[in-house]
Amino acid sequence: MVFPSVRLSHGELTLRSIRMRDVKALERELMFNRSWLRQWEATNPGTFNHLDTKAAVRSLIAYGRSGGGLPLIMEVGGQIVGQINVSGITFGSLSSASIGYWVAERFAGRGLTTTAVALLTDYCMRVLGLHRVEICIRPENAASLRVVEKLGFRFEGRRERYIHINGDWRDHDCFALCVDDLPEGLLARYLSGKTNTP
Ligand SMILES: CC(C)(COP(=O)(O)OP(=O)(O)OC[C@H]1O[C@@H](n2cnc3c(N)ncnc32)[C@H](O)[C@@H]1OP(=O)(O)O)[C@@H](O)C(=O)NCCC(=O)NCCS
Repeated sequence: MVFPSVRLSHGELTLRSIRMRDVKALERELMFNRSWLRQWEATNPGTFNHLDTKAAVRSLIAYGRSGGGLPLIMEVGGQIVGQINVSGITFGSLSSASIGYWVAERFAGRGLTTTAVALLTDYCMRVLGLHRVEICIRPENAASLRVVEKLGFRFEGRRERYIHINGDWRDHDCFALCVDDLPEGLLARYLSGKTNTP
């Protein structure tokens, strides 16, 4: 399935499909936030991981066109503040996907990522028709753990040495929500102050 381009907004935040003309601005943010992002960044085992934003954006767009994922930019006032990607989209008897994200350090703590995850989870379930959305987080990543906690994602368990991050295989804790956990939608539930997933 080829997904149409996405544009989702709430308050000051907009999520939109990534495009090749984002490369320069994105590269600036990635360079500027190097030390903030490095310890949480996915790496390729056995290769020298130099920053090639153009190749990365091209491959994200190709991945989106293949129907495997939705690579999105997080924007505030027309400025790129981070990225949020849906990956591993599968339909049929699994109907599931994963969400990953980062935000520039100077925009951290404004609830942008938490709102973005809520918006995107609703999109995955209500528009794409997925049954489940998961987020995998290193147990050391307190800020990211707060994102799923604030949204009431359910802890499913630890996947040992699951993803290659910052040069080694790292354990990840897996959190998920299913569509029947969210009769009112995740953004509405979050805004109402509830995090009541059993
Ligand atoms: C994890 C991350 C995406 C959260 O984004 P965010 O937009 O700041 O999310 P929120 O504003 O909802 O804040 C989430 C938590 O981050 C922590 N936080 C807030 N400001 C922070 C700052 N300046 N520095 C570090 N942590 C901070 C707080 O614990 C906050 O929880 P709280 O709302 O209960 O105070 C962001 O910290 C980040 O990009 N980190 C580096 C990359 C990364 O870890 N990606 C995720 C991999 S799983």
